[in-house]
Amino acid sequence: MKILVSGGAGYIGSHTVVQLVAAGYDVVIVDNFSNAHPTVLARMESLTGTSIPLHSFDLTDHDKTEHLFATEDFDGVIHFAGHKAVGESVEKPLDYYENNLGSTFSIVRAMQRYDVDKLVFSSSATVYGEDQAAATEDRRTYATNPYGWTKVMQEQILRDVAVAAPHMRFALLRYFNPVGAHPSGTIGEDPSGIPNNLVPYIAQVAVGKREKLMIFGGDYDTVDGTGVRDYIHVEDLAAGHIAALKALEETDEAVHTWNLGSGKGTSVLEMLRAFEKAVGREIPYEIVARRPGDIATSYADPTKANAELGWSTKKTVEEMAADTWRWQSQNPEGFAG
Ligand code: UD1
Repeated sequence: MKILVSGGAGYIGSHTVVQLVAAGYDVVIVDNFSNAHPTVLARMESLTGTSIPLHSFDLTDHDKTEHLFATEDFDGVIHFAGHKAVGESVEKPLDYYENNLGSTFSIVRAMQRYDVDKLVFSSSATVYGEDQAAATEDRRTYATNPYGWTKVMQEQILRDVAVAAPHMRFALLRYFNPVGAHPSGTIGEDPSGIPNNLVPYIAQVAVGKREKLMIFGGDYDTVDGTGVRDYIHVEDLAAGHIAALKALEETDEAVHTWNLGSGKGTSVLEMLRAFEKAVGREIPYEIVARRPGDIATSYADPTKANAELGWSTKKTVEEMAADTWRWQSQNPEGFAG
């Protein structure tokens, strides 16, 4: 089986590529390195002991995408590529719609033209809008920012394609909060600039790059007043993609939606404590105002994915913190170091 992995040099993509190769798949990556570093390829190759073909182009380019499909005989696609920063999407909505929808158009057109019928799509819990507590897949989808709308819209586009081309198979994977790194400490999340997300921010405070964590809100209606999220180790998330790909090989249904989360909520302070345990010292923080657009609580009901994929999360919050810390402390400057 030969799988195209779009965005395969990125954070979740790279961990999934390593697991795909270990599971015996041939992998071809397309990535434009808009949010990835070229060094990741050598790291993936050293982890897998094999050379991994990588094409560096922008998937919104229909001609280049079609050319790739014409020259490779893909059996399926895992589509990670996309912009993902909520705040930036509010500043640059057209860039988000053009990039995220455009790359999906190119990929699905090329799939149809070259008879590739399986697509695993990176969606997000963001499609549940503000209703993310104990979210089940049948919940109404909507978004509260342009990034979120690109995910809602891409899901809809794929559903519409499935009606017109009922032989195709789509897995819409709604990720909760991916964190952690490969246990080797050689690949991990490497955000450019100031991290938007909690765990990369804590990691940079712990390694001395930032002074202290700002906790956005201490007065939510949660266990300790801080925001609660369903953190999922990137290795468990990667395994979910392989399980979804296998399920698409066997199913008669065109579209499947699966939540990929643990089902367990962890507060900001609980994550901070887990990180302090991994690092072995206290991490400075300050509780400040809520971040606009944040919700109090988000966690998956993963029952459907557990039952239908035979998949569940295995790794604890302590392992998420320990693996993130190994990656961050071994690579204080990320892939550029
Ligand atoms: C954010 C996005 C979500 C996206 C996800 C990708 C928003 C509103 N939501 O989710 O759409 O799918 O990233 O991973 O941006 N926190 C702090 N201090 C920080 C950073 C975060 O206290 O410096 C808190 C937040 O208030 C929240 C929790 O940590 O309670 C998690 O935040 P974050 O990692 O940014 O993820 P989400 O907001 O859940």
